[in-house]
Amino acid sequence: MRMVPLSAPDITDAERAAVLRVLDGPQLCMGPELHGFEAEMARYIGVEDAVAVSSGTAALHLALVALGIQAGDEVVIPSFAFVALANVVMQAGARPVFAEIDEETLNITAATVEAVITAKTRAVIVVHTFGVPAEMAKLRALCERRRLRLIEDACEALGATADGRRTGSFGDAAVFGFYPNKQITMGEGGVVTMRGADACARLRRLRNQGRAPGDGWLEQGEAGFNYRVSDINCALGRVQLSRIGEILEKRRQAAEHYLYILGGIDGVRLPVMEVPGRVISWFVYVVRIEGAGRRELVAEKLAEAGIATSRYFAPIHWTRLWRSELSLQVTERVAGEVLALPFYTRITLEEQERVGAALRRAILAV
Ligand SMILES: Cc1ncc(COP(=O)(O)O)c(C=O)c1O
Repeated sequence: MRMVPLSAPDITDAERAAVLRVLDGPQLCMGPELHGFEAEMARYIGVEDAVAVSSGTAALHLALVALGIQAGDEVVIPSFAFVALANVVMQAGARPVFAEIDEETLNITAATVEAVITAKTRAVIVVHTFGVPAEMAKLRALCERRRLRLIEDACEALGATADGRRTGSFGDAAVFGFYPNKQITMGEGGVVTMRGADACARLRRLRNQGRAPGDGWLEQGEAGFNYRVSDINCALGRVQLSRIGEILEKRRQAAEHYLYILGGIDGVRLPVMEVPGRVISWFVYVVRIEGAGRRELVAEKLAEAGIATSRYFAPIHWTRLWRSELSLQVTERVAGEVLALPFYTRITLEEQERVGAALRRAILAV
C-alpha cells in the first residue's frame, strides 16, 4: 500500500541546478547566495533588511537576545505552539508565560495576552498559527501601550497578510523557518528581521560568533553563536522564494479541495478558510475530531489505511519539561481534537480523495 505522507517538499530542476552551481563554485558559506537570499526575502516580506540563519529556532533565540530579553523577564507565548518557543525563552534566561488562544484562528489575541501581563513582562511572541495571521493591529497597540516588545513568529506564515501587509512586517522583530515541511524550504534555515540598520548589523554579528565585518576568524566583539546558514541552503531558498506565488496558490487550491471533499462529515470540524482583512498562507491542513478520545482512534484507522497524520500541537504546558498546573481551557480542548492531514504543494486530487474516503470510513467506525 502506498502511503500518503503528511508533508513533502516541492523541489524542481531549478532548485537542483542552483544547489549544484554553489557546490561547483568557490564559496559554500557567507557568499553571494546568502546576500541574494537576504535581499530577496526582505523585499518579499516588506522590511528593510533580513538576516538568514540556520533555523527558525535560531532566529527566535537571536531575536530575544537582540531585544535584550534576560533573566528576570517574562515573555508571553502561546502554549498551543511548537515547543521551541518555550525553549528559547528559557535559553535567553527568561520565563515563558502562556496565553490562551482564540477558538477560530488558534492564535493568541490582545485580550488573552493582556490577561497574563505582569510587572515582569517584557515581550510577547505571537505565532501566526498554521499560516493564519494573528490580530496584529490590536497586538501592536497593546504592546505599545504596555511598553512591550512584540516578536512575530511567522515560521508557519510566509506570504500571509493582515490589512494588506505581509506577516513579519509588524513586529519589533520577526522570524521565519524553512524546514522541509514549510511552504518553502532551505533544507534547514530561517530568517530574522528587525527594524534599523544597527539592529540588523548586531544580528549579523551574533549569528557569526560575535565577529564584526573585518574581524579575523579569532576575533570577536561579543559572545555570539554559530547560527550561520550555508550558501547551499540559501541557493535552494532563493529558487523556492522565486516560486512562492505558484506554491501558495497550489496550497490554497488544495485547502479548497479538502473543504469540498471533507465538508459535512459529522464530528469533523474543518479549519477556518477566511478571516476578514487577512490572507492565509496554507502551511498545514488541520481538522478537529470532536468527541473525547476519538481523535486517537481516527488517527489509528487512518494509519491502517496508509494515511499519515500528526497531532499539531500538544500544549507546551503539558509537555514533560514544561508541565504545569495551569489551565487553558480552549488550548486544552483544541489540542485534544486537532489532527493534521496530509498537505503539501504537490498533493494530488486523488490523494486528497483517498484521505477523504479513509476519514469518512474511520469516523463511522469509531
Ligand atoms: C511556530 C514555529 N516556530 C518556530 C519553529 C522552529 O523552526 P525550526 O524547526 O526551523 O527551528 C517552528 C517549526 O516548526 C514553528 O512552527
